Amino acid sequence: MLSSTEIRNSFVEFFKERGHAYVAGASLVPPPDSTLLFTNAGMNQFVDYFKGTTVSKHSRIVNYQRCMRVSGKHNDLLEVGVDHTHHTLFEMMGNWSIADYGKKESIVWAWDYLTKGCGLPKEKLWVTIFREDDEAEMLWKDNTDVVPSRIRRFGEKENFWEMGETGPCGPCSEIHIDIGEDRGCGRPECEVNCTHCNRHVELWNLVFIQYERQNNGSLVPLKNLFVDTGLGLERLVCLLQGTRSNYDTDLFTPVIRSIESLSGIKYESAEEQKRIAFRVLCDHVRALSFLIADGIMPANDGRGYVLRKVLRRSVLHGRNLGFESTFIASLIPHIIAVMKEAYPYLTDQEEVIKKVVTSEEERFHSALHTGLRTLDEEMASIGKGEKVLPGDVVFRLADTYGVPIDFIEEEIAPARGLKIDRQGYEALMQEQRARARQARKAKDGGAELGAILADEEATRFTGYDHLEDRGRIVHCLKGNEEVPHLYKGETGTIVLDRTPFYAESGGQIGDAGVILSDMGKFEVSDTQSLGKQIVLHIGKVVSGKMETGAEIRACVDAERRANAAHHHTATHLMNYALRQVLGGHVKQSGSLVTPDYLRFDFTHYEAPSKEQLKQVEEMVNALIRSNQPVAARVMKIEEAKEEGALAFFGDKYGDVVRVVGVGDFSKEFCGGTHVKAAGDIGAFFIVKESAISTGVRRIEAVAGAAAYARACGAFQSLRDMQNALNVGENELLPGVNRLLDERKQLSAQNEKLLRESAKTRVHSMLDSAKDVDGVKVVAIDLGEVDGNAAPILRDLGDDIVLRESPAAVAVLAARSKGRVNFIVRIGVEALNRGMDANKIIRGVAQKTGGSGGGRKDMAQGGSANASQLKEALEAVPGMVKELLCEKR
Ligand code: SER
Repeated sequence: MLSSTEIRNSFVEFFKERGHAYVAGASLVPPPDSTLLFTNAGMNQFVDYFKGTTVSKHSRIVNYQRCMRVSGKHNDLLEVGVDHTHHTLFEMMGNWSIADYGKKESIVWAWDYLTKGCGLPKEKLWVTIFREDDEAEMLWKDNTDVVPSRIRRFGEKENFWEMGETGPCGPCSEIHIDIGEDRGCGRPECEVNCTHCNRHVELWNLVFIQYERQNNGSLVPLKNLFVDTGLGLERLVCLLQGTRSNYDTDLFTPVIRSIESLSGIKYESAEEQKRIAFRVLCDHVRALSFLIADGIMPANDGRGYVLRKVLRRSVLHGRNLGFESTFIASLIPHIIAVMKEAYPYLTDQEEVIKKVVTSEEERFHSALHTGLRTLDEEMASIGKGEKVLPGDVVFRLADTYGVPIDFIEEEIAPARGLKIDRQGYEALMQEQRARARQARKAKDGGAELGAILADEEATRFTGYDHLEDRGRIVHCLKGNEEVPHLYKGETGTIVLDRTPFYAESGGQIGDAGVILSDMGKFEVSDTQSLGKQIVLHIGKVVSGKMETGAEIRACVDAERRANAAHHHTATHLMNYALRQVLGGHVKQSGSLVTPDYLRFDFTHYEAPSKEQLKQVEEMVNALIRSNQPVAARVMKIEEAKEEGALAFFGDKYGDVVRVVGVGDFSKEFCGGTHVKAAGDIGAFFIVKESAISTGVRRIEAVAGAAAYARACGAFQSLRDMQNALNVGENELLPGVNRLLDERKQLSAQNEKLLRESAKTRVHSMLDSAKDVDGVKVVAIDLGEVDGNAAPILRDLGDDIVLRESPAAVAVLAARSKGRVNFIVRIGVEALNRGMDANKIIRGVAQKTGGSGGGRKDMAQGGSANASQLKEALEAVPGMVKELLCEKR
């Protein structure tokens, strides 16, 4: 029996023998300009070849591609696990013709691979074609031994393939297999694409790409015909390994076995609901592993949200199998073991995947716990006769605690005999979406500006080599309106034909400076861009006026630019150092470069240790001192990738990219402005490290002048401290330690004195004690105490009841640092007469708005508010009286 790895390899070999070049599958994260959330087909990475905007190196390509189909046009989520053939993440093997061969070869090769290569019986295969595609039908009949009566025509839904709302598309021809009468609906008319059952399984889709779907829905013919095919690996493996389910193949059985041993439940003999849970887990844990390995981290929106959703579904299905705490990480090695030959990078990411999954799992368990508890509290306030869980409660559970709505509707509510108010919930969701839309709209007010500048040519940027340039004003804008002039005192935006000003991009903030003309001066406080094309100089006219058409001189604030450059190159050095020190899995997930500091977000599963941060800081400084040259090169994107330049997913790249290199060790896709040599940076200090979400860390650091200023500040504070302590530089720390020691001793002495003075007061306290039916009540406020009041109070209480009067109830209070501490201590005799420290302390605590508790003979408490203390102490004799009465 062939293993899944052998089957994958046989496909690639088959097409290599037919002149195809192997191109590795792409990341699950599509390029930034893509309209897709996830890579959902092998062709995604070749879209530009079809559109003709990029020329492919190869005219025939073969590969296998990890795909996610959980959103947009292709969404299989709800079928996963319920059936045996759909997955969130699956592998698609494919072959492509980039304007090379056409329908005939693709049909013949697909048929040959399945029937001859894999030995599938032709009597079981069905072929579908697009309604109007006579040519395809003829090709099938003339060139293959397909059973002619097994060819069927279908419309757009089945046989016109599109990757999303827009993009390359075309009619397709599919090959399906009949997996047996016993798997079908039994209807006499049951055949391929039966709407009642899954007896005929789609295996391979051959798409003849010849159109591009536009935004307005129209189809524009492409210059050439392209072939894009996709064959589902899991389904083929299932057939070739002779199993009834994708989950019974070698791709998943190790995971099934592992779940069995963790849960103690046997997959084969379990009830169907549990068997579904097994399958969902197999599928989801695999998807989680691939998503995280491609750098996606849990988040509240976008891809990260899908990851979170898949994880939460896993947790909930895990509960069906009795998993009440984290368990997913122990399944991951089984996934990786099966997949590592085809996806070697998974092995490097194993630890990261496990850590991210576990920490997210913990968070969800605890949210679920709190969510369910809150729900139970809410339930108490829902009237007894009610049968509906109100929409706002559902919304809170779903939104605040992240409990999936299906789970609330299908499990939580029914378990409590309730239905949910779905409409009320949806209404609140709508409101929330509307709020989010509003916020987005407010954020990109640029739309109107976009309309004004729609036909404007891109501003020529000359600022890599110059800080000053001559040019012409092409637009003056006030708010979002075009104006002929901007006058003194007015703020506005100026567009030039060419500019040395760098517009904010790639994390580096925009330049500032001045624009001068014969008529006036404009101070630029920020530079932004519209669509990365048109540079917007934002600022204020400080003298005269600015006029459209005027010749100008644009001067960038050189110092600010240099300071930004120090931080930008330092960011690259730190990115390099982090990967050296923490590991190659570190990926940039955000960055900000300013003249004063830098901020860098990156993926890493735990807080870096102090030593690691120190190492990073030292490495960056050593690299600075090595003074290697910094150079930017413009090259084809493929070349840059081949050279291993680091790209940042958050940015959009064209076919030609700029790569900034420091020496020969650091290479990054980058449009920013940099120093000429590393030494220009001068110095670098890490200022802060923190977590910004699960698996994403943030470092703030300073470089260049800002680093120098920071060091100066630190030295000055040291000198000030030396002066204050009157010690030399090397004696500072011993001096401070000495002071701390002295302070400790003084406060110990102080405490001792306090205790002693308090003890001498014991007698007088007892003398003034109130006698309540023979119980001596001492209720006293000792006033302000320096240091920790509790031990003093305890000592004193012991003295009163152990040494002086066993018939005493001592309620003692003291204040320190704005808080009141109190204790209640009961002597043996008083105890026998029914006194209870716990009850008394609760009485005192209640009156002072604090809390407290303990044993019958001794309880402690405290409150942040001393204003009611006097009244509380005065009430003690009354409490004692009540307890005496209770005893009687
Ligand atoms: N793009 C087509 C599909 O995904 C064929 O690869 O089905």
